[in-house]
Amino acid sequence: MTMKSKIAEQVKSASGTDFSIGEIESWIEKPKFSTMGDYAFPCFRLAKEFKKAPQLLAGEIAQTFTLKEIVRTEAAGGYVNFYLDLPLYSEKVLKDVLGKGSNYGCQDLGKGKAITMDLSSPNIAKPFSMGHLRSTVIGNALANVTEKLGYNVIRINHIGDWGTQFGKLITAYKMWGNEEQVKKSPIPELHKLYVHFHEQAERNPSLDDEAREWFKRLEDGDLEAVKLWQWFREVSLEAFSEVYKKLDISFDSYNGEAFYNDKMDDVMAMLEDEGLLEESEGAKVVRLDEEGLPPCLIQKRDGATLYATRDLAAAFYRKREYSFEKSLYVVGNEQSLHFKQLKAVLKKLNIAWAEDLVHISFGMMLKDGKKMSTRKGKIVLLEEVLEQSITLAAEAIKEKNPNLKEKKQVAQSVGIGAVMFHDLKVFRQNDVHFELKDMLRFEGETGPYVQYAHARACSILRKAEAEEGASTFKTVAPAAFGEAERAIVMKISAFDEVIQEAFAEWDPSKIAKYAIDLAQLFNQYYAHTHILNEEDKDVKGQRLLLLKAITVVLKESLRLLGIKAPEEM
Ligand code: ARG
Repeated sequence: MTMKSKIAEQVKSASGTDFSIGEIESWIEKPKFSTMGDYAFPCFRLAKEFKKAPQLLAGEIAQTFTLKEIVRTEAAGGYVNFYLDLPLYSEKVLKDVLGKGSNYGCQDLGKGKAITMDLSSPNIAKPFSMGHLRSTVIGNALANVTEKLGYNVIRINHIGDWGTQFGKLITAYKMWGNEEQVKKSPIPELHKLYVHFHEQAERNPSLDDEAREWFKRLEDGDLEAVKLWQWFREVSLEAFSEVYKKLDISFDSYNGEAFYNDKMDDVMAMLEDEGLLEESEGAKVVRLDEEGLPPCLIQKRDGATLYATRDLAAAFYRKREYSFEKSLYVVGNEQSLHFKQLKAVLKKLNIAWAEDLVHISFGMMLKDGKKMSTRKGKIVLLEEVLEQSITLAAEAIKEKNPNLKEKKQVAQSVGIGAVMFHDLKVFRQNDVHFELKDMLRFEGETGPYVQYAHARACSILRKAEAEEGASTFKTVAPAAFGEAERAIVMKISAFDEVIQEAFAEWDPSKIAKYAIDLAQLFNQYYAHTHILNEEDKDVKGQRLLLLKAITVVLKESLRLLGIKAPEEM
């Protein structure tokens, strides 16, 4: 039972209110300054219920309140302020963290329920873009948070492996392609062919006809077309898997657009039966006038299906296969209209779960104020960017700690972690300014800053253990804890609430900010408090225990964000 619910229970019995404990709990605040209590209950709603002055009611509640963890209760301006018995409360929190370890903060809100997470989803034969990186990093963090709450999360990589562009690619490959070159560097080579096709087609429109022809053949299962497509797909996935390896991210399903090829007839039939399909210049569309949206294009004039058609089929498939409670799509802002249309079409079909589809949108990655994108022919390869970050991290580490043993591994964790943290620390709707130098700083709100705080605490613990053995860490009631420890204990105990908030708002930046706060609190504490050189053995032991709890929570916060926490750096 959390402290808040204990307080709520007491408030209910002390006041005799009709409001539920859950409601009361939701009103309890955590004041910014500990001079106003560790928790505060605003009495205004209850005062209305009882037609009493809030000050009066606050006084009455404060007077009858008894809870062993609370040492003092006081009424002030319509609030009841509660002051925790810090040593007692700290003991409980430390026991909880150290007993549960990485399971600290786990909850069972989602037990027995599934959530699908559509994330990353790059397009084959095209470079892995910055947008796909954002989707991968944000989606993975949200998946971790959701799992932490007990949900079964299905990570789906909805690979873009179908569409008319493959007709163009096959045409281009047959005209100008070279097998050896594609084998050597698949994505740049295929992308070059694709760009070249567009340049040529501007002058020679018959190329477009040929491309349409090849796509038709592909859809009809023509052997040559299918073989080429499969090859393009394979080499692309191999290249993507290099990126995923670097990021240490995996998926439960790679069912991409092509997977739904044989599942669209059902969707078409449903739309037809409901009388929703309309002809428009030879194409088939669902009109969404009443919803204030442009029509959703379902089938082209030549019979080819579209992105939206495949997403409709995917939504039905996922509901059937996973019976999700929510179906999330982590995709950039620029596809907002697409997902609005998707939901609107499902609603027109009277699908009750249409509301459970959530578009988790995000802003752009900017470099020098401009969108960081794959410009014509000139590609910013994501892998190169990540390598660069690892190299810079390696240089910084060499300078800071030349004797470090696992330099390579740590540089990898710091370099990749820096990029991820930089992406996750701001609310996802905001644009991200990509500046390697900024994200790799060891001060300020960066990944390396949090990682370094964790490693520093680990190193203190190692030293203590080397000096005195593991007995230093026996669980003792932290009688010596005072104001210096209060903020840290309160922060640590708020971990589960932060996870809930990140989940409720689909916002991993809540976790990143929390990690920064905790790292800062630790650094301040370390600067002002004796730990290794504390003479009183008991006091020293208590402080070391607190440090151990800090390492557990920092590491787990970073893990939720998809970031490693080296013990030495
Ligand atoms: N492949 C798409 C793109 O790169 C993203 C797919 C997102 N997922 C989805 N179910 N539509 O733009």
